Formats: sequence, structure tokens, C-alpha cells
Amino acid sequence: MQINVNLGERSYGITVERGCLSSVAEYIGEQRRIFVLTDSGVPREYAETVATAKHSMIYTVPEGEGAKSPEVLFQVLGAMLEFNMTRSDAVVAVGGGVVGDLGGFAASVYMRGVDFYNVPTTLLSMVDSSVGGKTAINFSGVKNTVGTFYQPKHVFIDANTLKTLPDRHFSAGACEAVKMAICLDAELFSKIESAGITEDNVEEIITRAIEIKKNIVERDEREGGLRRVLNFGHTLGHGIEAISHGEFYHGECVALGMIPMCAPYVRERLIAVLRALNLPTEYCGDIDAALAPIEHDKKCEGDEVAIIKVEKVGKFTAEKITTHEFKTLIKKGGL
Ligand code: GLY
Repeated sequence: MQINVNLGERSYGITVERGCLSSVAEYIGEQRRIFVLTDSGVPREYAETVATAKHSMIYTVPEGEGAKSPEVLFQVLGAMLEFNMTRSDAVVAVGGGVVGDLGGFAASVYMRGVDFYNVPTTLLSMVDSSVGGKTAINFSGVKNTVGTFYQPKHVFIDANTLKTLPDRHFSAGACEAVKMAICLDAELFSKIESAGITEDNVEEIITRAIEIKKNIVERDEREGGLRRVLNFGHTLGHGIEAISHGEFYHGECVALGMIPMCAPYVRERLIAVLRALNLPTEYCGDIDAALAPIEHDKKCEGDEVAIIKVEKVGKFTAEKITTHEFKTLIKKGGL
């Protein structure tokens, strides 16, 4: 299955096909230098399957959000330079959202931009972060503060790589598909509600989530408005993530962040779906501390924060409220 993201000269294809990992090097062009960026949590064989060109190298960063740092970015750029990469060579990220964000950012600034290919191997990066061209590192303790919009040249999604993904990571990734469904696709939400997300239907759900995302990105590539819907649950979610120091995964924080932004009847259905996916539905940490970083959030402008609400499954509304109103809303338990 091939999905095309139509963005004029920045258009690209997304291949969703079991086994497609082994065709990446040939697709990119075996005569080019291929810098494969991966992390220590990704099975080595995936990067090795991609790095088959004569001039290819694998660079491994430590697993986890800590790799999205200025220090690691400069180490990656240094390795690219040492590898004698020129403007006609390519960076390929093999792994989850961290290597995708870091690799995409490195590709976008190295020699003012080299080709970037994304090979997501986690469910979260397959359904969300590998598509749409957001790249970033964290800076000064604030998530995704330094980054670019830089579309990949192609995305390769091989659902066979999910076989080695730990269950907790699978659930955290599933949360981003639930996010798209509850905001934009009632039919997909009902499907997840009745069948869950399993080995058997995961490819179909990935494909649908990408189609939803591509439709948004094509209409609002640089997040002037509509694309903000994809941040549903992320305002509180990022706050919880910022203070959890790795205790919660990104998708788990988004699960907790979505719940209060739903009207009661929708919330009931959402909580049932999240529970079935083994995602957290109650936050027992310090909610004041989790709300403190929201002023630094990119969704915040001055004293206002852009929020997304879901009052009917498959439909969202966007509005701006003050940060004080947002904090009050969360503390009273939601809409
Ligand atoms: N993950 C949100 C976006 O790509 O806009």
C-alpha cells in the first residue's frame, strides 16, 4: 500500500508493507552515502537491513528522550561530517519518534539540508511522528523547542518490526491512533472500541491513521490552525511528561491529557478504550506541578492556550482559553 502526501515539491510517498525494510537501500540509491541513525533500544538487525549500500554507516544514540539534546545532535552532525557526507547523500532514521525527530533535524541543518528518509519501527512513530515533517530536539528543559518543518523523501512502514516492540510501547503508540480516531473518525474509533488494536488489524489501523494525518498536513503543513487538532491531549500530556522524568511514556501522558478534554459521555467511551489498551486513565502525581510548564508550551500564546475539545466522537472543536481557565478545567476533572 502506498499513500502519497501531496505538498507540491515537498510531496512524498509512504509505503506500508510488511517486509519493505529490505528494499529501503535500493530505493534510496546504493551509490549514495547512507547515514543510518538508530538507538540502542532498536534491534540492530533493522538498521543492518537498511545499511546495505556500499557506503553506509550506522550511528547509534542512547535510547530515550535524552538523545533529543543539543549535545547528541552535535555528535550526530560530527559523525555525518566524518563520514564525508555531501549534499547528495542521505540520512535514514530507523527507530521511534526520538531518532525520527533527531535524524530529521540533523538532516535539515547539515549543509543546509540533505535528503531524509524515515523508517519508523514503533507504533507511535508509524501512526504519527514519522509523517508530517516535524523535527526537533529538546532545549533548556522544554520539549521540541528547537526544530524545523522538514518533510522526508519517503517513509517506509514495515509492521513486522512491531513483533519486537514491547507491549507497553505498543500501547503507548496505539494511543496516538485513538487520538486521531476520537477527534476525526468516529468509524475508526468504533473499530478500535470493538476489536482493539491487534497484530491482525494493526496495519489497517496504521494506514487509516496516516490517511487522517496526511489530510490534515496537506491542508495545514506548518500548523497555522487545523493541524493543532493533532495536539489533542498534548498540553496536559506534555506537562505530565516533563515532570515524570521517563516514568510515563509519551503516549501514556497523551492518554491522561485527552481524558479531561472530552465531554462526559465521550470520556466514558475513551476511558474504556484506553483501559482495554492497558493505558493509564488516572494521574496520581502532582497535578499543579504538571500544569506549571504549560506557559512554555508551543500551544500557548501569551496568557492564552489553544485547546482542542471533543464533545462528540469523531468531531473536535478548537478554542483559546486563558492558562488560568485551562488549569481550573483540569483541576475540576474536565469538561
Ligand atoms: N504529532 C503532531 C503533529 O505532527 O502535528
